[in-house]
Amino acid sequence: MKHTYLFCLIIVSLFYSCSYSNEDDLTEVILIDDIVTYDANIKTIIDNNCISCHNNPPVNGAPMSLTTHSNVIEAIENRNLIGRVSSTDVGFGMPFGGPRLPQNLIDLIIQWEQEGLLEN
Ligand code: HEC
Repeated sequence: MKHTYLFCLIIVSLFYSCSYSNEDDLTEVILIDDIVTYDANIKTIIDNNCISCHNNPPVNGAPMSLTTHSNVIEAIENRNLIGRVSSTDVGFGMPFGGPRLPQNLIDLIIQWEQEGLLEN
């Protein structure tokens, strides 16, 4: 009987320790509170990591340019841009030849896509 009581106490305390106690804890899991937009977040990532090849016109064998909002949308929708930047396969991933983008930047592009690929 005593053991049953102790057991229940442990179970209950486990549940409590898993619950969130305030709003700050809850929002911590969200990467960016504001909606991600091309102008505020995405353009800089592409400019810093992609347009050395995906310029207009594209160079170094890159097949398309990524210099505008609509270029990047087109590449997400038809050229697997998210799959390419997420890949850990050096022969497939982008930037071409690596290194892979930091995960938080990849997550931002994914969040942008989920939120509707807004320009601003
Ligand atoms: C050093 C040059 C270079 C850089 C930097 C680079 N790319 Fe590329 N990219 C290429 C080349 C070359 C190809 C074509 C060969 C291939 O598909 O692997 C390509 C292909 C792609 C494709 C597939 C196009 C298609 O039609 O199949 C996507 C999407 C892409 N790049 C996105 C990006 C993104 C996003 C970045 C920046 C994070 C980036 N690339 C950075 C050279 C580059």
